[in-house]
Amino acid sequence: MAVDLVIVVLAAGKGTRLKSGLAKVLHRAGGRPLVSQVVHACKAAAPEARVAVVVGHQADDVRAIVEPLGATTVLQEPQLGTGHAVLMARDAIGRAKYAVVVPGDAPLIRAETLAGLIRAHKAGNACVTILSALLHDPTGYGRIIRKHNGTVAAIVEEKALAREQRNIREINSSIYCFTLEKLWPVIGELKPANVHKELYLTDAIALLDQRGEKVLAEVAPDPQEVLGCNTRAELAEVDRIFRARKRAALMDAGVTMYLPETVLIDADVEVAADTVLEPAVQLLGATRIGSGCTIKTGSVINDSVLDDGVTVKQHCVVANSRLCAGVMVGPFAHLRDGAELRRGARVGNYVEVKKSVLEEGVKAMHLTYLGDATIGKSSNIGAGTITCNYDGVRKNPTRIGERVFVGSGTELVAPVQVGDGAYIAAGSTITQDVPADALGIARERQVTKDGWAAQRRMHLSASAVAEVKPAKNEKRKAKNEKRKAKAAGRK
Ligand code: UD1
Ligand code: CA
Repeated sequence: MAVDLVIVVLAAGKGTRLKSGLAKVLHRAGGRPLVSQVVHACKAAAPEARVAVVVGHQADDVRAIVEPLGATTVLQEPQLGTGHAVLMARDAIGRAKYAVVVPGDAPLIRAETLAGLIRAHKAGNACVTILSALLHDPTGYGRIIRKHNGTVAAIVEEKALAREQRNIREINSSIYCFTLEKLWPVIGELKPANVHKELYLTDAIALLDQRGEKVLAEVAPDPQEVLGCNTRAELAEVDRIFRARKRAALMDAGVTMYLPETVLIDADVEVAADTVLEPAVQLLGATRIGSGCTIKTGSVINDSVLDDGVTVKQHCVVANSRLCAGVMVGPFAHLRDGAELRRGARVGNYVEVKKSVLEEGVKAMHLTYLGDATIGKSSNIGAGTITCNYDGVRKNPTRIGERVFVGSGTELVAPVQVGDGAYIAAGSTITQDVPADALGIARERQVTKDGWAAQRRMHLSASAVAEVKPAKNEKRKAKNEKRKAKAAGRK
């Protein structure tokens, strides 16, 4: 099937106004790079359309983001303006009938709005339909110059506005649907007639109008959708809107949030119904959370999977981890790099779990580090247990069987194994394997000295008295010396 429609995303610019080493479209809002947000919207708007992204600044990084989303890329080098960018995409566009052009830095555009623009263009029988918006503050945007009959005569950039055009509030979103057989002839006529010496796509509008072609502009229903990210302030505002949208969608789907405006959730996060998110929670990356979970205040969960009925108490950090049904962690727990807590396992305060599996019902409730460990069902890890997994060169595994009791303050020097049902005495430094059902004890035997403390107290108070006396003598001596010296001076 010949492709009727191509979507061209302009993402080659640097973004000078952001004052950044990072190309504009690589900045993030709503938890994704701007260009990724745009490509997602394009794909949803017209799943059958090809998406071609024009890349330039930091092209490899932009490619690495958009190609996995199914877009192709075109290199624009050097970047000579938005009109030049479309020209560079000509081969990629091929023989398509229509092209939708979308800037890579207006990420709030909704799929429905793009789809609506395409429909309006096809119905309106115009050579181009511009998506416009009515803004209270149009500063910085190109303005739509309408004719008496309502069609469009031109787009005038901010810097070129005549005085009487300044108060036009209808702006160019930089999103257009073109009929390509009309666009190609005029795009060749663009001139770099501006301070930046660039070929402006916006200048194609007046050229089309001069040829007697019909140019339409459709006003976007929600002006927020066309906000660009030219400055850090705009970037922050766009991010804020994405966050609000995401929260609204999740609340619609049955998620409870308290003080929702303090909750930060990335675009790809999934949360099932009847989960409760307390204030100041962050759910990031590819996190998936089941139903009936409670995530308490201050917890940050990144790229992790939580099954149903998990409780994450206050101020936990969970990254790249898996928490099975009914798991409870925190407060102040840190789970990372492939921590896996099976059904009903519990991790308490000040416990760090790294690349370790805690089987069903394992408990590690206080002040513990478990790294590169596997811990069998129903084992209990006492307060202050440390797996000494690093020998300065390599990470070594600790294997603990089922129903093991590890006493408080134990160090397990890896590689080491503890068999099922074994018992480790508190305060042990375990350097050798402990077989099943054995007791491992590895510490100095205690020595108790009767009366030692009382004797020490007596000794201390006696020596205190002895120390005071010489001090008094010293003072008296010093006084006498002074007196003598004075007397000698008077003589
Ligand atoms: C552009 C429009 C302006 C509109 C505004 C909406 C022009 C001349 N002006 O201005 O009318 O109101 O968008 O946000 O088009 N790009 C390239 N190659 C280039 C230059 C730019 O790919 O050579 C890309 C940029 O990466 C960016 C997009 O095109 O994603 C828009 O460029 P930008 O410089 O942000 O244009 P604005 O000044 O915002
Ligand atoms: Ca812009």
